[in-house]
Amino acid sequence: MNAPPAQGELARQHLIDPEICIRCNTCQEMCPIDAITHDSRNYVIRFEVCNWCNACIGPCPTGAIDSLRNVRTEKPYTLEEQFAWDVLPEFSDLDKLAAGNAVTEVPSEVKRITEVATAGQGGPALAPRSAAHPYVNLYGPGNPVTATVSGNHRLTADDASSDIHHLVLDFGAIPFPVLEGQSIGIIPPGVDANGKPHLLRMYSVASPREGERPGYNNLALTVKRVDQDHEGKPARGVCSNYLCDLTKGDPVQVTGPYGATYLMPNHPGASIMMICTGTGSAPMRAMTERRRRRMSLNEGGELVLFFGARSPGELPYFGPLQKLPADFIDINFAFSRMPGEPKQYVQDLIRAKGDKVFQMLQDENCFIYVCGLKGMEAGVLEAFRDICRAHGADWETLRPELLGKARFHVETY
Ligand code: FAD
Ligand code: A2P
Repeated sequence: MNAPPAQGELARQHLIDPEICIRCNTCQEMCPIDAITHDSRNYVIRFEVCNWCNACIGPCPTGAIDSLRNVRTEKPYTLEEQFAWDVLPEFSDLDKLAAGNAVTEVPSEVKRITEVATAGQGGPALAPRSAAHPYVNLYGPGNPVTATVSGNHRLTADDASSDIHHLVLDFGAIPFPVLEGQSIGIIPPGVDANGKPHLLRMYSVASPREGERPGYNNLALTVKRVDQDHEGKPARGVCSNYLCDLTKGDPVQVTGPYGATYLMPNHPGASIMMICTGTGSAPMRAMTERRRRRMSLNEGGELVLFFGARSPGELPYFGPLQKLPADFIDINFAFSRMPGEPKQYVQDLIRAKGDKVFQMLQDENCFIYVCGLKGMEAGVLEAFRDICRAHGADWETLRPELLGKARFHVETY
């Protein structure tokens, strides 16, 4: 028997599934403390009375009684709400929190940043049905993990204008499970202009789920040093400069992991179309690396990558990407600042491959991921619109269908 939880705590609320219940009255008869009642529609349980003695569980002939949701103690589902249900409510963030043994809710700044980053999808996304279950928000700003830098090297060429780093963080004995497509939070040390501790910044994980180096409890990030703002004026990005300047052995405050929908499909035969610029390549590297390490399993499904950068020297992971076999991944590089050559953006290459892209948009087994510059988003959506029109289809009709099937994912910043 559980003691009633204190005010403000997360609590389990015992419920009866109205879809399964056959209204046989057994639970009400078995309950020794009159926690169960009914009206002409539903059998329901009084939150403040039920003490989880479980006397009703065994006798229930259908198992409808074996239902629960996690709620705040001060805001349980009322009897009126339960009487009105035809089905149980969807699992909420609180249920996910409880399932992941997380200790805090997703911080408001993460919710705000994520809303902006995923606006290009045109609605809330779902995770692919075959995606692995992600752990979310195991560590918040109030209880961050201290990871240790085990590697930091520059990815861009010595003479490149952008300074992008591959950073490896080691978590030692602390569990920090991540999936490809998830992000983590980094809390830079020090205080902001108002004397308050810096807010966390989010960074996509660039390594696959078993770590940058399998067998080690580590992960990789792809971080670009921000030295000018979005308008091109000189600016020193707090967190990106901090991360790019770290050296081996330095401690780093990490929160997360975050993101429960921008996840790769795991079923054999699933194809992935990846569209990115700059550090938007981080989740694409994670997914590609996952597939590369499993290449010998011949799971099938295509990988198509559209990757935009100023020039080869500015493109993170240019060397390793070029070494991948053409029958494993179809790589399309768009370079925008090649001397003597016309500017090319990812959307130009998407248009040039319009027939192939349309076939993938139509393929129920193809999942599409966009990540990188916010400015690229409109151009990519416009390219999809044009390709659909040229093939007698309508992107505005297709986009919600893709979203509903968890096939379209956008994260831009
Ligand atoms: P700040 O001190 O916050 O900002 C300094 C100035 O630069 C401000 O004027 C600000 O408006 C401007 N600015 C902020 N961000 C950028 C930018 N990206 N480009 C140009 N100007 C900017 N970044 C990565 O490098 N790698 C990643 O894998 C990555 N993944 C992300 C995933 C998600 C879901 C999101 C939302 C963002 C991601 N970012 C990533 C961006 C990252 O979170 C930071 O915004 C970025 O590093 C800048 O932080 P800062 O503290 O250095 O700059
Ligand atoms: P550009 O040369 O015009 O800046 P960055 O190096 O700033 O991270 O950008 C990565 C790549 O994304 C660059 O090639 C950049 O080209 C390109 N890019 C910039 N704006 C857009 C846009 N609106 N659509 C697609 N790609 C873009």
